[in-house]
Amino acid sequence: MLRRPARRVATFFPLAIVLSCCVAAAHALENGLARTPPMGWNSWNKFACDGLNERVVRQTADTMVANGMKDAGYVYVNLDDCWQTSRDAAGNIVADATRFPSGIKALADYIHSKGLKIGLYTDVGTMTCAKRPGSIGHEYQDAMQYAAWGIDYLKEDWCNTLPGQNAESSYTLMRNALAEATAKTGRPILFSLCEWGSNKPWLWAGPIGNMWRSTGDIQDCWDCKKPWGGNGVVQIIDQLDPIYSYAGPGHWNDPDMLEVGNGGMTTEEYRAHFSLWALLAAPLLAGNDIANMSADTKSILLNKEVIAIDQDPMGIQGHRVRKDGDLEIWSKQLADGGRAVILLNRSAAPAKISASWDDIGYPATLQAGVRDLWEAKDKGKVAGSYAAEVPSHGVVMLRIKP
Ligand code: GLA
Repeated sequence: MLRRPARRVATFFPLAIVLSCCVAAAHALENGLARTPPMGWNSWNKFACDGLNERVVRQTADTMVANGMKDAGYVYVNLDDCWQTSRDAAGNIVADATRFPSGIKALADYIHSKGLKIGLYTDVGTMTCAKRPGSIGHEYQDAMQYAAWGIDYLKEDWCNTLPGQNAESSYTLMRNALAEATAKTGRPILFSLCEWGSNKPWLWAGPIGNMWRSTGDIQDCWDCKKPWGGNGVVQIIDQLDPIYSYAGPGHWNDPDMLEVGNGGMTTEEYRAHFSLWALLAAPLLAGNDIANMSADTKSILLNKEVIAIDQDPMGIQGHRVRKDGDLEIWSKQLADGGRAVILLNRSAAPAKISASWDDIGYPATLQAGVRDLWEAKDKGKVAGSYAAEVPSHGVVMLRIKP
């Protein structure tokens, strides 16, 4: 028997639309961006500091256009830590000329010429996590420089802060600097806060950023916890579940970039990781070597029916609606009145999991069409419940439509 947690799902559908519209309007950063969770690629999970250079970034952008990722919605090409080296005598941020011999402006022009957008990384404190210059004291100067280069997206980290530095006011300062840069150039800049959930940003960051990291750094593993705060997939979803109501169009919880294709998990686990991120309405930033990925990895990142769950226009973050030990059911309301449902098996053996209509906020008698999104097969019209065999560390992901 599956145990039911406190009931949190059965919001009447039209009321949900009204609420999501008005909560978002009152608490979201109004820069018009990220109406659905941002999608793209980020250099860090695969290339870290030493592997980042202009060649990798151009090759990634070229491949995203050629392999259908751009058409599937992956538009941001984001340089993480280590693109920068120092400041010049006037305090301007200086890109690493060895790694980026053509400069950031030329790279931005190249990425824009492909119909893609470019992101950069900085830090609230004196230095980034990899000890490159941070933005403290240079927020307006940096924002103007980013805008002049044509930057579309900024991630701001939380390393090397001053003792007692306040997160909300520090990120507000950069938000204001970006807004001023946008006013001058007309180019809006998506703002991604990265303070790892340390100060509960879901409580205050809605009017400041388009997304906020809610957890420590993701690790390329299913179930692991590092003493310094690194998390596996299951550790992250457990932390995202209780804060689902804070996400919405323009302002998203960020469970960190994808590890799909980086080699530390099985294909089944990567499929589950991607499915859960989509159900959580998470930003989908691929974190692998796009130019050299396997067919399995590509088929996960390019599953358009799963991406559509992430990009659903109502912008509801899904959450867990039932748990029985390692067997769980997660559900997300969709704009068409349907539900995305994940049957998640965290155990070491295959198991049958059954989702009842009551779990997902439907009357038991309702006839609804069930489609399996990884099999890409319709399973017919069903009332009451739907059950399936789920592999160990795997999911069955369904789209249910009355
Ligand atoms: C922190 C962030 C990561 C990455 C690295 C770069 O750990 O959380 O996402 O940006 O810094 O140094």
